[in-house]
Amino acid sequence: MNTNIVNEIVNRRAFRGFSGEKVSQDMIKRIMEAARIAPSCANKQPARFLVLTDEESLSKGYKALSDGNYWAKHSAFLVFSVTKNSLDCQLPDGRNFAQFDTGLAVENMLLQAVKEGLIGHPMAGFTPSIVRENFGIPEEYDIIAAIAFGYPGDGEYLGEKHKALENAPQIRKEYDEIVTMNRWNL
Ligand SMILES: Cc1cc2nc3c(=O)[nH]c(=O)nc-3n(C[C@H](O)[C@H](O)[C@H](O)COP(=O)(O)O)c2cc1C
Repeated sequence: MNTNIVNEIVNRRAFRGFSGEKVSQDMIKRIMEAARIAPSCANKQPARFLVLTDEESLSKGYKALSDGNYWAKHSAFLVFSVTKNSLDCQLPDGRNFAQFDTGLAVENMLLQAVKEGLIGHPMAGFTPSIVRENFGIPEEYDIIAAIAFGYPGDGEYLGEKHKALENAPQIRKEYDEIVTMNRWNL
């Protein structure tokens, strides 16, 4: 089924075993550039990113992670994606595109990370108010996701459940469960 799908899409996985090796500033810049050139509604470009690379900032960022995301403290750099509805299309029928477009930009980052030989792992499991307070992000912004990046390693620090997941197959719904052709049949 994966034949002829873009390599980076096929090879991307939300792994948790980081090596602890530093990532070059050039590489970080390319990953963020991939986000910058993502598409958005009417080219509004609503996504903003807080990128944490130095020890002090990283430890402030790690404090926001939920206990289950302990493994992300071994990442080389951490990104928080941030947006607000007023930065993007807000249609009269109620559809808002800021979070959608921010997600598109994050997927670009994840795919660029794969190309660079890195793991990129998005997380909802963190406390936004801690990030807001530690970095002075104004109330009107929504802090949507954290993304941990780093080189893959043996993940010796992982608990048993997460160790097993490193080698587990990728689970997805069947094609026909999510795609309906020419008529609504889901
Ligand atoms: C918005 C979002 C939030 C996620 N939050 C977490 C998280 O807090 N902790 C975690 O370990 N994985 C998290 N994940 C990773 C997913 O569990 C993972 O992508 C999914 O199980 C599919 O696995 P795969 O990415 O390896 O194909 C998150 C992924 C997304 C897209």
